[in-house]
Amino acid sequence: MASIRSSLLDLAGARNRAPSGTDTLQADEARRRGQHALTQGKRAEALDWFRQAVLLAPDSAAALRDLGRCLAEDGRPGEATAPLMAALERAPKDAETVRALGAVAQMVATRQGGVDLPRLPSVHALLEVLDNDRLDHGHFAMLCIAALRAMPGLASALAALAREGLDAAVTRLLGESAGMLRDPLLIHYLARTVNLDPDLERLLTGLRRRVLSDGLYRRNGPPPAFLAAMARQCRNNEYVWYEDEAETEAVAALAEDLAARIAANRKVGAEVSAYALYRPVETLPGAQSLGRRTPVTDAEARRLAAEALKTAAEERRLEREIPTMTPLSGAISAAVARQYEENPYPRWLSLTIPSPQWDREVDVLIAGCGTGKQAVTAGFAYGARARILAIDLSRASLAYAARMARHYGLANLRFAQADILGLEGLERSFDVIECVGVLHHMADPLEGWRVLASRLKPGGLMRIGLYSERARQPIVAGRAAIAERGIPPTEAGIRRFRRDVLAGTVPLGVLAAASSDFFALSDTRDLLFHVMEHRFTIPRIAECLATLGLEFGEFSLPRADADRLLAEVGGEPGDLEAWDEIERRHPQLFRGMYQFTCRKPEMRR
Ligand SMILES: C[S@@+](CC[C@H](N)C(=O)[O-])C[C@H]1O[C@@H](n2cnc3c(N)ncnc32)[C@H](O)[C@@H]1O
Repeated sequence: MASIRSSLLDLAGARNRAPSGTDTLQADEARRRGQHALTQGKRAEALDWFRQAVLLAPDSAAALRDLGRCLAEDGRPGEATAPLMAALERAPKDAETVRALGAVAQMVATRQGGVDLPRLPSVHALLEVLDNDRLDHGHFAMLCIAALRAMPGLASALAALAREGLDAAVTRLLGESAGMLRDPLLIHYLARTVNLDPDLERLLTGLRRRVLSDGLYRRNGPPPAFLAAMARQCRNNEYVWYEDEAETEAVAALAEDLAARIAANRKVGAEVSAYALYRPVETLPGAQSLGRRTPVTDAEARRLAAEALKTAAEERRLEREIPTMTPLSGAISAAVARQYEENPYPRWLSLTIPSPQWDREVDVLIAGCGTGKQAVTAGFAYGARARILAIDLSRASLAYAARMARHYGLANLRFAQADILGLEGLERSFDVIECVGVLHHMADPLEGWRVLASRLKPGGLMRIGLYSERARQPIVAGRAAIAERGIPPTEAGIRRFRRDVLAGTVPLGVLAAASSDFFALSDTRDLLFHVMEHRFTIPRIAECLATLGLEFGEFSLPRADADRLLAEVGGEPGDLEAWDEIERRHPQLFRGMYQFTCRKPEMRR
């Protein structure tokens, strides 16, 4: 603890600083003064007070939280991470700390150009994070990787990978570095996130191959808990890791053997975990009998099977209950629906729960809700009195969304299958319509946008997300490489393409731009293999808004970042010409998407 404490003092910038007359002040008083300074817009002064508070009470979760929050507001998410993680360790259930840390982790994960972390995240705090499903674990993946890579066992296996190749690295991981296979952070990281480290992916892909080919799941291999965590990782990434022909054949043989034993009600064991490294357990013929008529002797395999069967059954049931509001409209809607039936997107695992922003009855439409991450976020953000309708073309996506909404206990959300183009006849209109990452996948995005605008009440608000032509240039190059090589959008095609990108035989720019969207199958398909993609520019967005009679609001960027960028060009938040100039200077700024609000004017009397 001593070293954590001294590094926090260091971080607070307090070690070499005399407390300048405030040493007699209590930490609470320093915090109060900091908060007062904040209300007066004096952030630098507030930061000084919050640092004093941490100096006076280095173990106070509240003081650490204030300091972290203030650093984040000041546009310094990297520096904010350590005090917020330290606050979480001290008060893991504190909702404000959880929310502040979630917001900072999102900034760290998504900020263009990356974020410098002044120090390594604490393993203990990361374990708290991964145990808390009110935090988006995906936003912490890079922090987990930083902590894992600093561990000697993994560092040595990855060094062997770089110097001696995959076989030697796997041998190291099973030998000298075998302690890593029992490491709680690695096990939690694999089970509860999608891995974002290409080197770790290569290493584990090699380990998986060795486990299968040498039958190491039976004996002399990784501990059962590690195998189960790796199987959960493969489920999380939708089996996107590359497998060679020998593996495909060996998995087919394993499935046949398991199916015969299940049919004969003979007991099965760790082979189930081995199968789950490659395929969903529920796809095994007769899987329903696992743990019932067919005994599963390995406890980890039993848990894996039970989990997978329960989730699949729940989604099947929820899918049957989802009403159909409109038919699919035209060939593009049908092709897009097919893509998302096969690969619902995004396959999210947890969420940073926002605090309610509204406390009134409000009608909200989430158009193209996919697997519901946006809709569940809305379910919390618009408050318990909101009436939210979330629609999508894909029933598989809606079933995933409905399962997650149940998991988070939301009662203000309804799901329905519908095509945006069919909503014109809908009698209901909405105070808010969110449509993020959807219009650019329609045959005519402006037509889709027009239909949505027709369902918005006068004075109503829209939140729109559209691809940027500038930011997606590396993706455009990736799509061209895919077309040139004739790679099909199948599981095997996507796996092969990723293997080539990771091996550096297609433009690396694709990987850099894709970042976190390259590590699960549906992500890669959505990003690079989409059946229909339009891209926008800011002048084009201005034209669409003018055509639809909507007023631009603002881009969704962290406030400190937006202020800094606008100051560069001397613009106002609502000035689209200024934003076009900003994007010209920072072409990757909207690499996720343009996300912005716009409003329908009140009706004139
Ligand atoms: C990239 S996903 C975005 C999901 C969600 N908005 C999000 O941000 O997480 C696009 C979703 O839009 C849906 N979609 C595309 N065209 C649609 C249409 N015409 N009507 C309704 N949904 C549509 C797709 O089925 C897919 O689930």
